[in-house]
Amino acid sequence: MTLLDVARARHDTPGCAEVVHLNNAGAALPPAPVLDAVIGHLRLEARLGGYEAAAAAAVKVDAVYEAIARLIGCLPGEIAVVENATRAWDMAFYALRFKPGDRILTSRAEYASNVIAFLQVARRTGLRVEVVDDDEHGQLSVRDLERRLDGDVKLVAVTHVPTQSGLVNPAAEIGRLTRAAGVPFLLDACQSVGQLPVDVRELGCDLLSATGRKFLRGPRGTGFLYVSERLADTLEPPFLDLHAAIWTSHDAYEIRPGARRFENWETNYAAKIGLGVAVDYALSWGVEAIEERVTALAARLRRRLGELPRVTVQDRGQRLCGIVTFTVDGESAADVHHRLGAAGINTSVSAVTSARYDLGGRGLAAVVRASVHYYNTDEEIDALCAILQY
Ligand SMILES: Cc1ncc(COP(=O)(O)O)c(C=O)c1O
Repeated sequence: MTLLDVARARHDTPGCAEVVHLNNAGAALPPAPVLDAVIGHLRLEARLGGYEAAAAAAVKVDAVYEAIARLIGCLPGEIAVVENATRAWDMAFYALRFKPGDRILTSRAEYASNVIAFLQVARRTGLRVEVVDDDEHGQLSVRDLERRLDGDVKLVAVTHVPTQSGLVNPAAEIGRLTRAAGVPFLLDACQSVGQLPVDVRELGCDLLSATGRKFLRGPRGTGFLYVSERLADTLEPPFLDLHAAIWTSHDAYEIRPGARRFENWETNYAAKIGLGVAVDYALSWGVEAIEERVTALAARLRRRLGELPRVTVQDRGQRLCGIVTFTVDGESAADVHHRLGAAGINTSVSAVTSARYDLGGRGLAAVVRASVHYYNTDEEIDALCAILQY
């Protein structure tokens, strides 16, 4: 067991002195080095000019790709840095081509924005969207996926850790099946990157999307897409600009090689540099150590919530993570969230419109979501439970 220096983590995190932050699945509190990097670059822009500051910070910008590559076990050229996880995911998904009769396999845990994109493309192309059954633990059934995986399946797209539950879907088992079948595997790792080890080679995914502001503790408005080297140059991004492609002659252009064809020219350099610092900061703690502490805190929270008379913990799955979801008898999720907020405890609400296949299937209109990070403490968890006692 690795012991993480919680006092140092909290000392590095100015927000810990202000709030009990159990909304890390919404946006985590950034550590001081991230804050300093973002503000430092904004000051540089103000002093030198934006373009000149970007040129002066070129090494830091390159370091962002190297840091992400170290984090997820890929090459820097396999990363596109974009505005958020949704844009990353969309750039990959809308680059794929489908025809009538093609099928996509997805999970019950799937995030609303992904499903909306499936449904739009299904309407346009005649593609069919199939939701793989859950197994007896409430995670994607690998056996059902295997049964459905045939020649008509053109994509398997799965959410690793859903927005609305503590579940970790069995991504490596899914990757083994998709590799064997030669079907692209798009993993939404928005809620998993930063709280548990994610290695694209071990998971066997071809495409992966993630965000900066959640468990990575980076700035808002940052995200990234991993595209395997094998696939990148075969995919045409849905949007091109003069960064993604070069205008080579009067009526011709060439798309840039590698994952950066999925980026666009203008970007928030301060936030991008901050994302790289956030990744390095996470790596300095060690993602295994982060997962160990996060899962221990979340287990304590589930156990304590389970002891309260009106509370039902709603998480399912064999492997659980730092997201804890629950309902309170006789009180809406929004009211519980507000009651906790009034006591200085940040949580959030996941509504059925964010995860209809899952929450809708379980007859839940909404759940309260309390999501821990390694800088949270047992005392903070106990403070939340004390409020829910009445
Ligand atoms: C599972 C999952 N996927 C994707 C997203 C979208 O991320 P972003 O808001 O960075 O686009 C979220 C956001 O909550 C999420 O929970």
